[in-house]
Amino acid sequence: MKFFIDTANLDDIAEAQALGILDGVTTNPSLMAKEGITGEENILNHYKKICEIVDGDVSAEVISTDFDGMVKEGEALASLHPQIVVKLPLIADGIKACKYFSDKGIRTNVTLVFSAGQALLAAKAGATYVSPFLGRLDDISTDGLNLIAEIRQIYDNYGFETQILAASIRHTMHVIDCAKIGSDVMTGPLSSITGLLKHPLTDIGLAKFLADYKKGN
Ligand code: E4P
Repeated sequence: MKFFIDTANLDDIAEAQALGILDGVTTNPSLMAKEGITGEENILNHYKKICEIVDGDVSAEVISTDFDGMVKEGEALASLHPQIVVKLPLIADGIKACKYFSDKGIRTNVTLVFSAGQALLAAKAGATYVSPFLGRLDDISTDGLNLIAEIRQIYDNYGFETQILAASIRHTMHVIDCAKIGSDVMTGPLSSITGLLKHPLTDIGLAKFLADYKKGN
C-alpha cells in the first residue's frame, strides 16, 4: 500500500518524508489556501518545493471546469516537474480531460469520487489514480469503506490498472481498514500516518528494556 500525505504544509511533508515511508503527496485548492498559498505563480512554486522534498507522485489540482481550460492548466502543471500528477474533478469535462491526458501518457488523479459508477468512468478514461473520499461519506452517515470495497471488486473484475487512492482519510483506523480492503494508496494528514506508530505496550516495553539495561551497566 502506498502512503501519500494530504497536505500542502512543507514541514509535515518533510516530517513524513524523513520517516522513509512516504510515496507521494496530494494537495487541493483548500489545502493550498490553508497554507496561505495564493496566486498562480506562488502556487506553481509551491508545487516545485513539494516535489523537491518528496520522492514520489505529487497531485496538483486544476481549477478550470471546462475541457480546454483543464487541458491548458494540466499541461502547464505536468511540465512543472516529472513527479506531478494532474488532478481532475469527476465531472464530464474532467473525464474527457482524463482520457486526453492518459492518451498522451500524462498521469492523472480523478478526484471528488463518491460512487462506484464514477470510479468506473475514471478507470475507463485511463485515470492513473481514482480518489474516493472516504471521510466525507462517513461525515454524512454513508459507509465510505463500502465504496472502496465496491471499487476494488469492480477494478479486479475487469483488470483495470487505475489505482484506488483512498482519500479524505481522517484517522489511523481508516488507513488500516483501507489496507484490509486492498486500497492501492491512502492519503491522509500527518497524524493518520504517525498515529500508526503508537502503542502503549511498545512504550512500556521499551522503558523496561532500557531500565533493565541500566541495571546491568
Ligand atoms: C483528496 O485528494 C483530498 O485532498 C482530500 O483527501 C480531502 O480530504 P478532506 O475531506 O479531509 O478535506
